[in-house]
Amino acid sequence: MSTPRIKTILVTGGAGFIGGNFIRMFLDRHRDVEVVNLDKLTYAGNLESLRDVEKNSLYHFYRGDIADEAFVRRLFNEWHFDAVVNFAAESHVDRSILGPSAFIDTNVRGTMALLEVSREFGVERFLQVSTDEVYGSLGPTGKFTESTHISPNSPYSASKASADMLARAWWKTFGVPTLVTRCSNNYGPFQFPEKFIPLMIANALRDKKLPIYGDGMNVRDWIYVEDHCDAVDVVLYKGKVGEIYNIGGGNEVANIEMARLILSKLDKPESLLEFVKDRPGHDRRYAMDSSRIETELGWKATRSFKEGIDLTINWYLKNQDWWQRIISGEYQDYYKLQYEER
Ligand code: NAD
Ligand code: TYD
Repeated sequence: MSTPRIKTILVTGGAGFIGGNFIRMFLDRHRDVEVVNLDKLTYAGNLESLRDVEKNSLYHFYRGDIADEAFVRRLFNEWHFDAVVNFAAESHVDRSILGPSAFIDTNVRGTMALLEVSREFGVERFLQVSTDEVYGSLGPTGKFTESTHISPNSPYSASKASADMLARAWWKTFGVPTLVTRCSNNYGPFQFPEKFIPLMIANALRDKKLPIYGDGMNVRDWIYVEDHCDAVDVVLYKGKVGEIYNIGGGNEVANIEMARLILSKLDKPESLLEFVKDRPGHDRRYAMDSSRIETELGWKATRSFKEGIDLTINWYLKNQDWWQRIISGEYQDYYKLQYEER
């Protein structure tokens, strides 16, 4: 399959953790592509994370909802995108347990609206950013491959699995050139401090308790966010349409081990650890087999866990303003007033 010619790209959810890191990397790598960031600026969206690219003439921001099909259509009419990368999502499992509706609205309905409008206008590539969580939970051995049965256990993973199925159907039925990437747990700069690693760092720095669900022996396969962004870029340009690509860090760490490591790096006492009630439906272990993307597309995670965790901890130490303001809710109203939905 030939390499797509991409002159304009729609990146959704670019004010979030991974989307923002992706936009920064993409603008740096592709100096002749117009990048449009469409983001609803939910509680998780923060334009402060993109301050350094705001002045780039190839970068454009729109506040809006991917599930608002009429709005998405107007945007396509204005830009005629060659490619779409859909990062926009409700992304936190615990929130999906408290209130699943927003997950269906954005992750399912929103993905369908983007697919429908992409079908109408025609795009060269539609990349759906998905997660290893669609595969469910592993026992002590084995890894997820692209042919592992999907068995989502949380409302979040069920909504992401649904979106993957829509991407497949829009390819098979309508010929929309979709690709799906499924990545393991990301960590790195600009991650919202409700997620495990930044929450542990932020709590340790404030001498607050570190809540560990259940026995702390649940295992995640951690990948540095830039490695994930690199993989998305590689799949976008070199991936085979209609395919799924697993992306993993090859770094399996139990939660309790991770929390202890963070405490020791910050020189804080283990007495801050607090075992709390387990998350319902808590998946025990995730581990990704990334051999397809490695052998077929030549991608490999480059950041070792040791390097990645040091970079991350140092970033949260240096950027206390960024996460303290999020925790206190200071950014929210400011940006929401500045960018009313157009
Ligand atoms: P995030 O919660 O940090 O960011 C999500 C962004 O999407 C926010 O900026 C938010 O404002 C925006 N958004 C939410 N609903 C929207 C809507 N209806 N319309 C437009 N924008 C909307 O999430 P993240 O951690 O950066 O994850 C990005 C994507 O990667 C998600 O699709 C997620 O499922 C997937 N993913 C995440 C991980 C991880 O470890 N964080 C791992 C694998 C896959
Ligand atoms: P999280 O960052 O929510 O990612 P996911 O659930 O999508 O993998 O959680 C990572 C792991 O950390 C998961 O096993 C749940 C656990 N966890 C805690 O033990 N305490 C916490 O406060 C949080 C947020 C997560």
